[in-house]
Amino acid sequence: MTIQRTLSIIKPDAVSKNIIGKIISRFEEKGLSVVAARLQLLSRSEAESFYSIHKSRPFFNDLVNFMISGPVFIQVLEGENAIQMNRSIMGDTDPKKAQKGTIRADFADNIDANAVHGSDSDENARKEIAFFFSEANIYSCR
Ligand code: CMP
Repeated sequence: MTIQRTLSIIKPDAVSKNIIGKIISRFEEKGLSVVAARLQLLSRSEAESFYSIHKSRPFFNDLVNFMISGPVFIQVLEGENAIQMNRSIMGDTDPKKAQKGTIRADFADNIDANAVHGSDSDENARKEIAFFFSEANIYSCR
């Protein structure tokens, strides 16, 4: 059994639709636990820095503008194979390609307003968690 932590962000589109709770339930139903969380309005420089891996991509400016358009709900999820589990619960990045029953198929509008972000690897999960939370603010109940 591999217990992992991953970073999850509920994006401005989902926060403004008042579905934070519905999305968290999807994670909890699959055995993931919220071990740190806060609502935050990202600054432009925070969003640019968080998504710096995509800096050269054509969608970078639209992505940053969208991520600062309203508050986001940032959380650390913990559980068995949390990184892959979170990605399968979220579904494909593009909601048009996401399987029915995934968060993005059920709640996302398009590839930019796609409801949630989740770390894609162990290394990125560590980096992304450290970007927003110090270890002292993560509360595992295990
Ligand atoms: P996210 O998981 O937050 O990681 C980067 C984001 O860029 C992604 O979700 C999408 O919302 C956004 N994005 C926009 N266009 C693309 C694209 N062509 N490929 C990947 N991500 C994209």
